[in-house]
Amino acid sequence: MAEKSKLFAAGNPVIFLDKKERSFYAVLEVDKIQNIRGDFISHDEVIGKKEGAVLFSQRNKPVRVFRATLTEQVLYMPRGAQVVYPKDIGLIIAYTDIFPGAKVVEAGLGSGALTSGLLRAVGEKGMVVSYEIREDFINNATKNMNNFFGGLPENHMIKNLDIYENFEDADTDRLVLDLPEPWKALENITPHLRPGALVCCYIPTILQVKTCVDTMNYLRCFSQIQIIEALEREWKVDNISVRPSQRMVGHTAFLIFARRVEYGVKPIQPAKTARLQAGEPGNDSED
Ligand SMILES: C[S@@+](CC[C@H](N)C(=O)[O-])C[C@H]1O[C@@H](n2cnc3c(N)ncnc32)[C@H](O)[C@@H]1O
Repeated sequence: MAEKSKLFAAGNPVIFLDKKERSFYAVLEVDKIQNIRGDFISHDEVIGKKEGAVLFSQRNKPVRVFRATLTEQVLYMPRGAQVVYPKDIGLIIAYTDIFPGAKVVEAGLGSGALTSGLLRAVGEKGMVVSYEIREDFINNATKNMNNFFGGLPENHMIKNLDIYENFEDADTDRLVLDLPEPWKALENITPHLRPGALVCCYIPTILQVKTCVDTMNYLRCFSQIQIIEALEREWKVDNISVRPSQRMVGHTAFLIFARRVEYGVKPIQPAKTARLQAGEPGNDSED
């Protein structure tokens, strides 16, 4: 991965900060002119400078330039699919205990937002495998990650496969599913997760949560199932006015976390899982 201390180069995602601390995201390009609310600065002036450099716009106003952080990259990068927001990326990494050296499998890759956070967390000795069915999304995410990391991380593997039908990653330590119907993938994947592996399913609606938890319970190899929603509210400190911001990052998705354990007494029964997917409740009395 690229050293963040290097001088700015074309392709780096940066933040231009004006005097009023308004930020403008851009990917540096030779010959490109940056518009800063009707004022202008050339990207050529930034290329070759150090992070934090103070430059002057066409109207002689100071502009500072910084490398985009992961949070800024996620919020501003070109999107194919809806991204996982930073508040949720942090929770996913913490609650699934993603550690340096881990093998993490995720689906889908989408815009590569969550993937970038996962790659940071596993470090160079770890590995992230991303399943994604759409080639156009793979191309967009690849560009985003190439810019952010200053090259494509060697420990990232993309599989252009439907994860509901295909799963070929043994010894998975951590699994993160951001898909419309994650429960459809769980049955195939579960045998490849080692006991102790941690799982996260990122799901926007509560009815989907119910189906997913029912499926996990039915498979009888997930324990400590926990459902969390994070709401992010910023506060403002302005002299003696100290109050919450009127806007907040409200609902994005529910996060289901669980730990893989040994199989329960019954083997997996695909037919019953299919019934659960169709919305029928689980029937524990049979157990
Ligand atoms: C909400 S997006 C993921 C966003 C991504 N986590 C991010 O932060 O940028 C869901 C992705 O799952 C992909 N997808 C949907 N069904 C899939 C399947 N069965 N197998 C693999 N990928 C799938 C979609 O094409 C889409 O890119």
